[in-house]
Amino acid sequence: MKALILKDKNEAAHKVSNIILTQIKKKPNSVLGLATGKTMIPIYGAIVKASKKEKIDWASITTFNLDEYSNSNEFHNFMNKHLFSKINIKKANIHFPKNTSYDQKIRASGGIDLLILGIGRNDHIAFNEPGSSFSSKTRVVSLTKETQKVNKTKHKKAITMGISTILNSKRIILIAFGKEKAGAIYKALKGPVSETVPASALRKHKNVIIIIDKKAGRLIRK
Ligand code: GLP
Repeated sequence: MKALILKDKNEAAHKVSNIILTQIKKKPNSVLGLATGKTMIPIYGAIVKASKKEKIDWASITTFNLDEYSNSNEFHNFMNKHLFSKINIKKANIHFPKNTSYDQKIRASGGIDLLILGIGRNDHIAFNEPGSSFSSKTRVVSLTKETQKVNKTKHKKAITMGISTILNSKRIILIAFGKEKAGAIYKALKGPVSETVPASALRKHKNVIIIIDKKAGRLIRK
């Protein structure tokens, strides 16, 4: 698993946007897996801009978001604000995890063609915290104190795609920016593949692209 280290966020956002738009052009009814978080703001910004410029049609695209706090629409609102309200995606094609039938729904849609992932400082992917089984599916999880603090949230529980749900995607892009992600990226790429490092599970997948800025790549460049 190799990382593409780009100069900064803008360059990385441009690159990710290109990959997604190429996927949509190639397969107009693609199924996309989407993430929330600060990292995704410039990414969705670049996607919206390029979609307008190139008149990309999102009408046949289906999306499955990675996670959501329990009894909340916070991530859904985030997605509306940064992406969904700015493209012509159909409401009926947008999905958020509500219960464990999510994996079935994903399967019934034909499976995720391309999934975008961020990474937590403690190496979580979606809300799969350290210790999550690599065979986990969509389920309710408890958030670590650290994640609650970093995310500045009072929510203690969330519903998340599992690690195996994520690994079932045909193609995955992992994105990370900033020096506070350098340790997590180092462990994900260079440490042992272990359930204590959820992102290390990605090394079991054959089609992962890692796109990071110089700061997040600080430790792997040494
Ligand atoms: C959250 C989300 C993850 C996300 C991570 C990083 O906890 N559940 O999907 O990747 O945090 O967020 P940020 O991009 O804000 O650093």
